[in-house]
Amino acid sequence: MSVIVVASMKGGVGKTSVTANLAVAMAAELGAGRVSTIDLDPQNALRLHLGIEALEGQSICKQALRRRSWQSAMVDSPFGVACIPYGLVSESEREAFEDLLVEEPDWLERQLAQTGLGDDDLVLIDMPPGPSVYLNQGFACADLILIVLLADAASYSTIVAMETWIDQIAVQRPGVESVYLLNQTDESVRLNRDIGEVLQQRLGKRLLPVGIHRDEAVCEALAFLQPVLFYDPRCQATHDFQRLAAYLIGQADR
Ligand SMILES: Nc1ncnc2c1ncn2[C@@H]1O[C@H](COP(=O)(O)OP(=O)(O)O)[C@@H](O)[C@H]1O
Ligand SMILES: [Mg+2]
Repeated sequence: MSVIVVASMKGGVGKTSVTANLAVAMAAELGAGRVSTIDLDPQNALRLHLGIEALEGQSICKQALRRRSWQSAMVDSPFGVACIPYGLVSESEREAFEDLLVEEPDWLERQLAQTGLGDDDLVLIDMPPGPSVYLNQGFACADLILIVLLADAASYSTIVAMETWIDQIAVQRPGVESVYLLNQTDESVRLNRDIGEVLQQRLGKRLLPVGIHRDEAVCEALAFLQPVLFYDPRCQATHDFQRLAAYLIGQADR
């Protein structure tokens, strides 16, 4: 099993959109049933991108507090990707879950080991922005950390902090890879182009050669509770997610 953790220092950069759409694009390449997603963000938004209704019990947070396995919380979406929603929970449930994650730093790793997923299966995990107990859990078992950035000054200014995280993880887990993904690129905006170039110089090969264009279809797809690949199979963002999926699968096979 390969675990991809989708992270960023800032909110609103597209982590959840990327987790859902990349998972759907990867499942289209690898086959339905091979890709699972986990929502470790209390915003509980990943399920929306995958057309999953909020049902009691289908919650990673609640299952953890009940000490039950994930199996019954895992929902098959109509888009070839399974999902465990964070769940609709109370503040006290969220706090209790976060306490559990502090006490058991290897909780996620142990749960993943019990899923019965095969060696070739993929798991993508959506994270809240910035440092958190959730991210620490993800860092402890990630094979690949996918950091989402916008080509703007605010994202650029987070790179030093991101690199400090990555350096710390590399000490504990030297094998873990980290790459940066530019989202919402728009070549018609000069600042966007310029910051894209600066990021390229700064990050070199760790900036993925495939970015995701800014495309209204991504927002519209969410309004229809669909991944963009199904909402508009011909749009630019769909094309980008397909290229990104093929690129990452190609890299993993090497
Ligand atoms: N490539 C894109 N093109 C246009 N809008 C996008 C794109 N990626 C994300 N968005 C929009 O940006 C907003 C924030 O995205 P989201 O995935 O929720 O970010 P995060 O999970 O990092 O907070 C949403 O309204 C989403 O529809
Ligand atoms: Mg999000």
